[in-house]
Formats: sequence, C-alpha cells, structure tokens
Amino acid sequence: MNPPSKIVPATLGRRSFLKSTGALAAASALPVERFAFGASNNDTLKLALIGCGGRGSGAANQALSTSNLGPVKLIAVGDVHEDRMQSSLTNLQKTHADRVDVPKERQFLGFDAYKKAIAEADVVILSTPPGFRPVHFEEAVRQGKHIFMEKPVASDANGVRRILAAAAEAKKKKLKIGVGLQRHHQLGYQETLARLHDGAIGDITSMRCYWNGNRPWQKKRADLNKQYGKELSELEYQLRNWYYFTWICGDHIAEQHIHNLDVINWVKNGPPVKARAMGGRELNNGGSDDGEIFDHFACEFEYADGSICYSYCRHQPGCWNSVSEHAVGTKGHVDISGYKIYGDNQWRFKTEGAKDPYQQEHDDLFKAIREGKEYSEIEYGASSTMTSILGRMAAYSGKELEYDAALKSTVNIFPEEFYSGDPRAWETVQPPNKPGPDGLYPRAIPGKTKVI
Ligand SMILES: NC(=O)c1ccc[n+]([C@@H]2O[C@H](COP(=O)([O-])OP(=O)(O)OC[C@H]3O[C@@H](n4cnc5c(N)ncnc54)[C@H](O)[C@@H]3O)[C@@H](O)[C@H]2O)c1
Repeated sequence: MNPPSKIVPATLGRRSFLKSTGALAAASALPVERFAFGASNNDTLKLALIGCGGRGSGAANQALSTSNLGPVKLIAVGDVHEDRMQSSLTNLQKTHADRVDVPKERQFLGFDAYKKAIAEADVVILSTPPGFRPVHFEEAVRQGKHIFMEKPVASDANGVRRILAAAAEAKKKKLKIGVGLQRHHQLGYQETLARLHDGAIGDITSMRCYWNGNRPWQKKRADLNKQYGKELSELEYQLRNWYYFTWICGDHIAEQHIHNLDVINWVKNGPPVKARAMGGRELNNGGSDDGEIFDHFACEFEYADGSICYSYCRHQPGCWNSVSEHAVGTKGHVDISGYKIYGDNQWRFKTEGAKDPYQQEHDDLFKAIREGKEYSEIEYGASSTMTSILGRMAAYSGKELEYDAALKSTVNIFPEEFYSGDPRAWETVQPPNKPGPDGLYPRAIPGKTKVI
C-alpha cells in the first residue's frame, strides 16, 4: 500500500516533526511525501524496480548494497516481459536473499505495471529502454517517490520537455533524483574536473570525445521467434531488439555517447548552443534486424563561448576504437577520461580510494534520502540527454540546429498512447516505424528528414 502523505511544516525536518507535532497546527503547512525530510537508520526503504533487464538488475543490486546506511528491501518489480522479470528476481535473490521480498502479488506485468510497482515503494529504479522514461518518471513524481533513473532520460525532445516539467514538481515535493551518468560519481573524473574548473589548463578552447566501438548486442527476429515458439508481434520484436529503434533507444549517440557528451557539458558547465553533424548507415544495412539507427555520427557542438566539441560515435568493427574525452586550453591539454593534465599544471590521478561509480551513485542518493538533503541530478541528466538528441537531429536532418529550437521540436517520435499506461497497449499501439516491402525499415535521409 502507498503510505499516505503527511502534512508537516516545510521548515521542520522529519525527525524534529516527529518530536514536535504540537507545533503543526500553528505552522504553515505543505503536503509532504514519505521520507521527504529524511529517514532514520532504522527505517526500511522499500524499493521497486521498473525494467528488470541487465542495468536495472545491476542498479537494484547497488541500491540493496547501500544497506550499511540503513535497511533497504526490494518489494516490487514491473516489466513487460515475464522472462526478464523472473531472471532478474532469481539473480537478485541469490545475492540478497534477505533483502528481496517480492511475492507473486507484487510482480507486475504489462504496460501499466509501472504504476502498480511504483505505488508499493519509497524509492523506484526506472531502467527500461529510454523511450519510456518520461512516462515512468512522471508517474513516480506524481506518486511522490524518490527516484533513480537510468540515462538517457528520453528518446525525443518532447520526452525531455516532459521530464523537465515533472522535475519542477519533484523539486516542490522534495524528491531526491539520481540519474545514471555515473562518471559524476567517479573519483578520477571528479578530481580532473575540479582542476579544469580551477583553470589548470587555462581557457578551454576545444574539446573532443568518442564512443567508437562495435555494436553492443542484437536480437534477431528469427532467433526470437524460435526462442519464444511463436511469431512475435512487431511491437514485441522491436521492444526485444530495442537498441535498433530510435523511438525506444534514441539511437546510439543518445544511448551510449551521452556519457562522453555529458562529460564535455560538465567541463563547459552547461549544454552547447548549436550543433552541426553528419552520419549514416555504412554497415547497418544487412537486414531488418539492423532496425533504423545509424552506425556512425560525426558532430560539432558549439558552446556559448564559441568553443567547439568534436564528437564521433561509431558501431563498426575493425576500426580505431576509443571511448574517451579530451580538451585543449590556453595553458595545456587534458586527457579527461585518462585523468591526466599536461602543460603548466601537469597532474595525474592516483587511483587509490576510487570506488565503483555504479555503487557510489547509489550510496550518494541513498545517503541524501536518509539525511533529507536536497538532491537532484536531473538538470544535467536532461540537458546531456538533449545534447545527444540534438546531435542525432542535426545528423538525421543534415541541418545546423540550435539547442533551444531543437528542444521545442514538435516532431515527437515516441507514441503518445504509451503515456496513458494502457494495459491493452500490446494490441492497440503500433510502433512508429515498420519494415517496407524489402523488409528494411525506413531510415533518416539527411537533407530530407524533418526533425523540427
Ligand atoms: N549507466 C550505464 O552505464 C548504463 C549501462 C547499461 C544500460 N544503461 C541504461 O539502462 C537502460 C536499460 O538498459 P539495459 O541494458 O538494462 O536493457 P535491457 O534490455 O537489459 O533491459 C530493459 C528491461 O526493460 C523492460 N521493459 C521494456 N519496456 C518496458 C516497459 N514499457 N515497462 C516495463 N518494462 C519494460 C524489458 O523487458 C527489460 O527487462 C537503458 O536506458 C540503458 O541506456 C545504462
């Protein structure tokens, strides 16, 4: 059951509120969500996991591993695929037998599962493919829950706008929000960035960053049909092979390269003002399982001070690979991801004491929840998501685009119908992109595709 909201004076912490409820009548009152002002080390934080895949299961493991700060229990899960939900639960039970309490009645299946799982929890993990994130975030905020959500936080500009609107509500409700851009919790990055912001390489005039590698995974339609013993509907096929469909994934510039673009935005203390880009599908033309995404992007992101970030991301085997960020300044240059500064203020990070950033980001969020401290990573989570979407929009359209104009785009690629959480969505919602007579999906054509 969802615990009822309490009415407490905005100026009192939860513990002082509990000690001095007599003051309540006299004070100006605001509705307050459960644990908005903190939780004692004895309070059990109830956790729900929405999207029980690889990363969601990892995030749940990390959230449950914060129990040195106080008890945490996984009490509900939600997913659209029963097999993914069960394998996640089995694995989590192996590692955290005493912290997983999810009987059948709290295992929710379907497109409305998120609403029911969120209702059971104090803290929710949102880790479906990114297209659904705004839907789930809006609901978690509406229900007043603390949130950890994976990056990217949307697959289109409409989704980012909805995230920003819900974030304003979350702030009023004092909800704590973590976003899975874990480099912000990685000691080497923190120390390198602190030095850059202190002027270690002077004024930064150019940046470059890469996510060049092979494609991460692919689910082939024929294999899936065989595995599940039926012909999958188009929607189920696309959800299981979601990486290759822009409306769910955002394309790989948003899904992976966001990490590097986020670091550059961190260096510049905000997102770029415009982008120019090119990209295409050199190798992703083998068949319908390659979906609609590009396999390479090359972008220029221009920041307000005129400095440029050159960004490349590629899914092509046998080529030069790098996942890294770099910058050049008036007094030196920096290998940001290698934590090395060259020039007048030469420096190299020593790795002792560095903790796994995936664990650290949960330790930091849960500490903030327990201490009742203001905590939100939504500003950079949303703007780095929008930066990666801007690069994609510039490449798909072949146009130079301004960040602000792109954010206002009315070309929505994520189906509006999903925002209702209709359990009948399997039957009623069609994916926006279907294969043509040649079995291939329509793809963006620079110079023709409209993104604004
Ligand atoms: N921060 C990182 O380093 C990092 C690493 C990997 C993945 N991620 C992010 O985590 C997210 C999930 O990625 P993953 O690799 O775990 O994918 P995955 O395919 O392993 O898991 C996705 C899960 O969501 C479920 N799902 C899909 N649509 C749903 C819906 N509408 N409602 C409920 N459940 C739904 C799927 O059935 C599946 O269980 C992505 O946004 C990805 O970018 C982040």
